[in-house]
Amino acid sequence: MKINLQRTISSLTNALDLVGADEYRHGKRVALMAVAIAGEMHWPQARCEKMLYAGMLHDCGVSRTKEHRAITETLEWEGAQQHSLRGADYLADCPPLAHFSAIVRWHHTRWETLLREDLDDDLRLESNLIFLADRTDVLLSPYFIGASLKNEILWEYPEVVERIAGLAGTLFSPELVDAFRRAAARESFWLAMDPAYIEDEIEDHLRRGQPVELDTTDALAVARLFSHTVDAKSSYTQEHSTRVARIARYLAEASGIGGEHLDQIEIAGLLHDIGKLRVPEEIIDKPGPLTRDERAFVMRHSYDTGYILKRTFPGQPISAWAAMHHENLLGTGYPFHSPATDIPREARLIAVADIFQALSQERPYRGHMAKEEVVSRMDEMSAAGRIDPEIVRLLHTHLDRCYALAVG
Ligand SMILES: [Fe+2]
Ligand SMILES: [Fe+2]
Ligand SMILES: [Fe+2]
Repeated sequence: MKINLQRTISSLTNALDLVGADEYRHGKRVALMAVAIAGEMHWPQARCEKMLYAGMLHDCGVSRTKEHRAITETLEWEGAQQHSLRGADYLADCPPLAHFSAIVRWHHTRWETLLREDLDDDLRLESNLIFLADRTDVLLSPYFIGASLKNEILWEYPEVVERIAGLAGTLFSPELVDAFRRAAARESFWLAMDPAYIEDEIEDHLRRGQPVELDTTDALAVARLFSHTVDAKSSYTQEHSTRVARIARYLAEASGIGGEHLDQIEIAGLLHDIGKLRVPEEIIDKPGPLTRDERAFVMRHSYDTGYILKRTFPGQPISAWAAMHHENLLGTGYPFHSPATDIPREARLIAVADIFQALSQERPYRGHMAKEEVVSRMDEMSAAGRIDPEIVRLLHTHLDRCYALAVG
């Protein structure tokens, strides 16, 4: 399996951008501003491109809607360092993206503080550029209504620029602020961020860059990174995706599947709930029954997963397997109501692993269950014709191992 790194970052950014339900596409706007300002700094092409991807990835440590709101409502928030550190840790553990780790680590640190830290000069500017673009996007929020950018931005942008310029020397590097002024004087700088155009603008940059191919090991590492963001959404889902992926892979292997096919199943398991980034954690953590509106939020997550993964792994079955994890063999699952004949074995494996792990793990509305109780529940579902009886039989055969993978 070979996938394109740049495209992977861009499509998985759509998932990160879901966290801010209202400020959709924050990461992409930061990326576009960062690359335009880098151009004004006359940085070489490769370094400008690096800023594009750093912009898209900078909030990979933000999983919770509440945290996203806090970061995007005020210019400085004392809790902002946590997501920078978290994101930097995730990236450092992902070899194909590890070179973005330091930028993300420092992307909420004032310029005057960066000057006192023992850091490389290039790194100081790169992190501070992301900070500047990120804070500019916060000031831009009044200019977005629904799916469009208000025309007023073309007359009112000097106010935004002046707010940022007033922070030169304290929050931001004076040199970067000058470059920002020059870039911002072009209408195109702002219009590129119109929701109607932004995807095409990003696409143009992707096409211009030198493509980097990822092999399966790297693709797994990237999937693992994003699974951490998903699992950090709630303390109840800690390690959920990682564990579902391991159980699905284990059962797949036990059923005779081998080679790269196992890696693909693991990737689908790691990312099956990526669409949940859009569900506010108040809903995920709610101890009681959900309201109609809240249920609708939850019910769209597997469709959102499919949308994101289709773009991340084009031409691969991974997105379909992941998107189908809430289908059942009776044809009453969501969001497709697929009949059993349309549900592939891989999707069934992920569905069983998902239910098994979720039942084994504590949830806001109940404690965790002992393994005997978990399998008896799963036997009931299998007898009712909802989940694949053959896979449930495999689960029985390997129960201790699977339970250890689920909670051990
Ligand atoms: Fe941000
Ligand atoms: Fe799910
Ligand atoms: Fe799940």
